[in-house]
Amino acid sequence: MAAPTLAPAPHMERYRRHVLVCTGGFCSPERRGREIYALLARLLQREGLLFGATRVKRGETPCLGVCAQGPILVVYPEGIWYARVTPALLERIVVEHLKGDRPVEEHVFHRLAPG
Ligand code: FES
Repeated sequence: MAAPTLAPAPHMERYRRHVLVCTGGFCSPERRGREIYALLARLLQREGLLFGATRVKRGETPCLGVCAQGPILVVYPEGIWYARVTPALLERIVVEHLKGDRPVEEHVFHRLAPG
């Protein structure tokens, strides 16, 4: 029996960070994460972070396992977590953290432990 032929792997463009936003209703009963997720795209475009070596990918998820004080947002690869993300805080995260490499420390509530 012949081994199955694998399809070629998909091509991945370079990127620097990945941001996940919870759009679920447990951490934010008003589901404000949906507004944050939509605004994130506009801010990334404004700051020139959608393409090239500094590209930031984004994704929405129904839950990040925190389920309180949302909207919750996490930035990888650092594993830096933010709670109660408002539009104003999101703008700071994009400008200071994603573009300027300086996390908004006073709003960080958790960090991924170094492996
Ligand atoms: S519903 Fe947002 S973290 Fe669980």
